[in-house]
Amino acid sequence: MTASPEQRILLIICGGIAAYKTLELIRRLRERGFFVRAVMTEAAQQFLTKLSVESLTESRVFDDLFALTEDSSMGHIELSRDADLLVVVPATADILAKMAHGLAGDLASTLLLATDKKILVAPAMNLRMWLHPAIQRNAAILQKDGVVFVGPEEGDMACGEYGPGRMSEPLAILAAIEQVLASGTRIPLPAHLSHKQEEAGVLAGRRVLVTSGPTQEAIDPVRYIANRSSGKQGHAIAAAAAAVGADVVLVSGPVALADPLGGRTIHVKTAREMLRQVEAALPVDIFIGVAAVADWRAAETAPEKIKKDPKQPLCLTLVENPDILAAMGRRSKDRPALVVGFAAESEQLIENAQAKLMVKNCDMIVANDVSRASGILGGENNKVLILTKKGKESWPWMTKQEVARRLVARLGTMLAETGR
Ligand code: CTP
Repeated sequence: MTASPEQRILLIICGGIAAYKTLELIRRLRERGFFVRAVMTEAAQQFLTKLSVESLTESRVFDDLFALTEDSSMGHIELSRDADLLVVVPATADILAKMAHGLAGDLASTLLLATDKKILVAPAMNLRMWLHPAIQRNAAILQKDGVVFVGPEEGDMACGEYGPGRMSEPLAILAAIEQVLASGTRIPLPAHLSHKQEEAGVLAGRRVLVTSGPTQEAIDPVRYIANRSSGKQGHAIAAAAAAVGADVVLVSGPVALADPLGGRTIHVKTAREMLRQVEAALPVDIFIGVAAVADWRAAETAPEKIKKDPKQPLCLTLVENPDILAAMGRRSKDRPALVVGFAAESEQLIENAQAKLMVKNCDMIVANDVSRASGILGGENNKVLILTKKGKESWPWMTKQEVARRLVARLGTMLAETGR
């Protein structure tokens, strides 16, 4: 994937031994087509030179709050608003504390307060520092404020100790940047400050449970039954719900995607494991079943690899898997306020989707045409039809991220209407 040309990253480089990895990150970002501007703290300049950062970003490095306010071409407000995302690397104990408590004594901390864009931090520090209650308290405050964390990772540290505190590798930070950008760039405003309900984070703090991806049902130790689901739509929905402040649990089958940021992801293989994890995550306000759950599993899983027998064809007996969506829709005691299903159809889209809405007792069905010709399965775009008990609505072609954002906004409104 290459960034669209308008995507602009403001890197806030702080002083830590991991600062050297920033150069590699800048190179990777530039390769992907991002425009990168950098701000360096005084401490960062003990580890990296401005010249090396300027050479790689091909842009002036900013480091002085007061020089900046004299510079009429770019004040600090413009500098932070001009970016699509602010990325703090390495995020030291000092900058995390300043961010958590709203201090603005230098250019970096001022920009982090003045922005209306999302902030991603990649912490790096000694493990004792990272585990210190003061740092953990600050990290919790920042997470609650919507700051996205990538890492720290566990591993050998520059100081010779082993544990959590290593900064994530540049490629992992890059993947996190792309994920955050895919879920929108603006920080959702607290509900009491916004006039537009759909954007206001009506879902802030509400529990949203999403299933995504295929399930795999073993035939023998090496073979399984599965399907072509990529998990892209389900993961995008989990990310979009987390981006508006929901408390998200994603139960995902095997996919080649990174876990979405800002929620908890539980990895499963089979339909029965998925059901177990979904039930364990209850109660929730909204359940969204996006997974392409395998409808059948082998009645018996062979303990050893099944061998070919030229004399007789192999007959597999398949038994039906539990229907997770129907189980959620039909719960009596702790049924989620909203139960949303997807309907993957290759023919008679409306009729089949309508039937699923009723039979599985859902509040909404998102129907899509999964015939090979549509390119939806595994693709980047989707065209959906929204069915509720009140009626139906066809959405135009859009990216799966856009479908996710619109769906999450719609569910926020619907949830508010239920009064729960
Ligand atoms: N679903 C589920 N558990 C299953 C099968 C499906 O939770 N065992 C959910 C899916 O996550 C989706 C919805 O039910 O939200 C519809 O899935 P789909 O594959 O379109 O339909 P099925 O119910 O499996 O019916 P069919 O395959 O006959 O169309």
